[in-house]
Amino acid sequence: MSDQKEAAERLGMTEQLLRQSKYWQAEKVARSILDTQPLHPQALLGLAVALLGVGRVDEAAHQLDKAAANGAGAEQCAPWRAQIDTARQNRKANPRPMKYLWPYQTQGDVKRANDMMASGDVEGASNLHREILRLVPHEAHSVSHFGAQRPNYFYGVSMAARLAKMLGYEAVSVIEFGVAAGDGFRSLEQSALFIQDLLEIEIKVFGFDLGEGLPTPVDYRDASFVWQAGEYKMDHDFLRQRLVNAELILGEVSETIKSFTPPKGAPVGFCSFDLDYYSSTMSAFDILRRKDACLPRVCCYFDDIISHFFFPNCEFIGELAAIEDFNKESETRKIARINKPQNHLMFPIAESWHPHIFYYHDFAHPQYNTYAMPEPLA
Ligand SMILES: C[S@@+](CC[C@H](N)C(=O)[O-])C[C@H]1O[C@@H](n2cnc3c(N)ncnc32)[C@H](O)[C@@H]1O
Repeated sequence: MSDQKEAAERLGMTEQLLRQSKYWQAEKVARSILDTQPLHPQALLGLAVALLGVGRVDEAAHQLDKAAANGAGAEQCAPWRAQIDTARQNRKANPRPMKYLWPYQTQGDVKRANDMMASGDVEGASNLHREILRLVPHEAHSVSHFGAQRPNYFYGVSMAARLAKMLGYEAVSVIEFGVAAGDGFRSLEQSALFIQDLLEIEIKVFGFDLGEGLPTPVDYRDASFVWQAGEYKMDHDFLRQRLVNAELILGEVSETIKSFTPPKGAPVGFCSFDLDYYSSTMSAFDILRRKDACLPRVCCYFDDIISHFFFPNCEFIGELAAIEDFNKESETRKIARINKPQNHLMFPIAESWHPHIFYYHDFAHPQYNTYAMPEPLA
């Protein structure tokens, strides 16, 4: 079957599912069209309607904008835009409290939701999954339905959003340093779109990359016995078409970071460092060195801190060396591992990404000592 014919059939299915209010299934079918035709205006519109149906208002708004920008008619979009405006007004008038739950309390609900899913109650299961994730975003791994492709990003974004909210911000920024083909970046954006609806806070997403693969290494600390210049090239068009509203900042990071300022009122709360090299990571740390750019604590994911067969990683090269040297620069700005991560991450089972989570602490930040704990569950 031709791509066009298949898309037309799937579009028919999407519309039928939407008429039956089967939003979750409609979302899946619409997304399957967009996998191969990312700018298909009617599939984007269908996706927006499906998202709106399950209360993912901000994400619906972004997809609707993308549909309109790619040819969906103004009169077709107008009623959905009006519904989005109303939903946003209602949300503002009745904000949901953010509650706190310990993991052992969620296990029963996770099982119940997964049983519901297995027995075919997809809507019920997805509602329960949503609620669990709203309360305990760290459950992303066990919630298969919304299971984030990269739970490490889902986790980092949700921690940033939660801290920003508790400190009184209406928005927060999250960054991936090192985008390459964009698998991680798309996952970061997906997590942000999901969490901003879930926690009712705006999340700005930025990605920094050279756009032409790895640059020439500077010295031994860039460990060129592991990586080669030119590795990890980006397919610009492929990636840009699949992004919703995340911003890609291309160029040598030591330059681009200098002119970058997070949007006003949206300090940086999560950074993924995946630039491989010591030199590039040290440049990216400029965002942490900058006054007023970040929350007092920034969740950080470091991708390249592990070893493999021919890569005996250590604190004298790569990202680990960059962390060591950054920490020598100041008494009040430190990047540190989380002590006893199993407590912090609240996972009963250790996962391979847990040791990659660090936190940047800015002890002199005016809000470092502001009480920031979620309210206990009533
Ligand atoms: C391992 S890849 C990133 C993979 C990506 N995070 C993912 O998970 O799909 C590393 C990327 O860092 C980028 N990079 C490394 N050093 C850089 C520099 N100095 N300036 C800009 N980009 C850089 C390279 O262009 C490359 O695309």
